[in-house]
Amino acid sequence: MQPIRGEAVRLENVWITYSGAGKPAIRNINLSIPFGVLTLIRGPNGAGKTTLIETCLGLLKPIKGNAYLLGVNTKDERIFEVRRKCSYVPQDFMKPPYEHYTAKKVIEMGLSSNRVITDPLPDYFQYELEFYAKELDVLSLLEKPIGILSGGQQQKVFIVRALIRRPKLLFLDEPFSSLDKESREKVTEIVVNYIKKHRGSSAIIVSHSFSKIEEYADIIVTINDGVITDIRFQR
Ligand SMILES: Nc1ncnc2c1ncn2[C@@H]1O[C@H](COP(=O)(O)OP(=O)(O)OP(=O)(O)O)[C@@H](O)[C@H]1O
Ligand SMILES: [Mg+2]
Repeated sequence: MQPIRGEAVRLENVWITYSGAGKPAIRNINLSIPFGVLTLIRGPNGAGKTTLIETCLGLLKPIKGNAYLLGVNTKDERIFEVRRKCSYVPQDFMKPPYEHYTAKKVIEMGLSSNRVITDPLPDYFQYELEFYAKELDVLSLLEKPIGILSGGQQQKVFIVRALIRRPKLLFLDEPFSSLDKESREKVTEIVVNYIKKHRGSSAIIVSHSFSKIEEYADIIVTINDGVITDIRFQR
């Protein structure tokens, strides 16, 4: 079956098995995510949430079924090109203490597919970088080495990096894991506003715990033990 035009992500009867693992991590997954929506993927530890988003991104390939990202089959070599239109903040974002790049450099490196890394940052990127860094209260930390920042501060830096790339699809895996309540609400507000402002962009957020983002999500996908047990459309 061909992917329907206008779908950000489409998974058709997708099975994923990690090499060496006996049991598939996710089984027979069917999912369609349109443009312009906020999707929350929730479920307990080990349910398959990270596996699911890495499958959407084409980082994991189905052993059965097909996955499409922005209309391209993830097994197609064009997936590298398509993935550049996406931003992904993984669950294990933390950098070690000896990592010497400054937070600002780490953010700028996220733009390396859009520009020559040694060129000065164009004004509009500089403006957005400062805007989001201020919103998330990391503006004063930008010249510090990323490795010495706290977990929550690093998580915010990676969220800024993901946003200034202006992705068509924003993937955040457990973006609230190291954040305090106020920061979780701020990130929720920023993501909701991002989708409103960048018409046609979608965000897919993974969270295992209850979060305020449930109120704003257009689609809530619940996954348990490798299978989708519920898909709720809220609007
Ligand atoms: N690299 C790997 N090799 C083998 N099995 C893996 C690998 N990564 C994950 N798994 C297994 O796949 C299943 C789903 O894992 P996944 O990381 O997708 O869960 P999750 O829902 O993201 O959990 P968490 O809330 O803890 O992040 C688990 O049973 C896990 O043990
Ligand atoms: Mg996970």
